[in-house]
Amino acid sequence: MKNYSHINDLKNLQETVQEAISLKNNELQFESLGKGKTICLLFFNNSLRTRLSTQKAAQNLGMNTIVMNFDSEGWQLEFEDGVVMNQNKSEHVKEAAKVVSQYCDIVAIRAFAGLVDKEKDETELVLSSFIKYATVPVVNLESSIGHPLQALADAITLEEYKVSHKPKVVLSWAPHSKALPHAVVNSFIDMMLLQEADFVITHPVGYELNPKIVKNSKVEYNQEKAFENADFIYVKNWSSYNDYGKIVSQDENWMITSHKMEHTNNAKFMHCLPVRRNVVVSDKVIDSENSLVIEQANNRTYSAQIVLKKILETLK
Ligand code: CP
Repeated sequence: MKNYSHINDLKNLQETVQEAISLKNNELQFESLGKGKTICLLFFNNSLRTRLSTQKAAQNLGMNTIVMNFDSEGWQLEFEDGVVMNQNKSEHVKEAAKVVSQYCDIVAIRAFAGLVDKEKDETELVLSSFIKYATVPVVNLESSIGHPLQALADAITLEEYKVSHKPKVVLSWAPHSKALPHAVVNSFIDMMLLQEADFVITHPVGYELNPKIVKNSKVEYNQEKAFENADFIYVKNWSSYNDYGKIVSQDENWMITSHKMEHTNNAKFMHCLPVRRNVVVSDKVIDSENSLVIEQANNRTYSAQIVLKKILETLK
């Protein structure tokens, strides 16, 4: 694998999930693979899980890690071609990506959507520019439209808690006070389309997602109906896609409560974190024994570790 920018960069999701679970059972079994190799983690946005779990994954493989908060510590980058750079941008990505590539063997990048210009966000400007100009493999730590390491961690968690029948998995919108991007839900849907499952998306009218990502997934506007007999409830807020980046409603009736979970088949509760308690989900649900949020965060290490392992194997 050259780059990991999308879940479809994996040749086989199910095999990769099994490999990740095997790594989790013996996380230092490939501790020599990355000896002498370095990963640069470049953050254009905040992080807790991605930053720490990817470092831990790299260290489990024997790699050195360099982390930079690019947005606050680096020069402001220009991404457009042919620009007269006489304003506030000090360095072009053409040089920056090549320079960073000299200091590491893999570069990993987090750069969220701006949520102002849909077309611009969909070009994945930061990630795609690094893929274009870097001379080493590039890993997506959450871009404007995808978070494939989170989706792989979620696939690992779904496998670990699998039920004996074909599972019903529900992706539910929940309210939030800030306009949030679509990256996590896009990648969750991409991943679910590779699974054998009864998959349902539920959200209020106005929160329809990109039809090119949703494809023929079932959409149910009645949340309680969607929850009936569900085995997994995956919750995430997102802003409007059609009225791009806007909050079109904050209906608090969509918060996940124990009453709603009673409609399910004793479903597990999932969320990628960070989560706003008693806005997105009640304390009672997230603190219940059916909540998998801490396990999901733990699996971020093994999703990153299996991806880095596959890339390192191509560098040998
Ligand atoms: N889920 C996730 O990516 O968490 P962070 O934003 O804290 O990295």
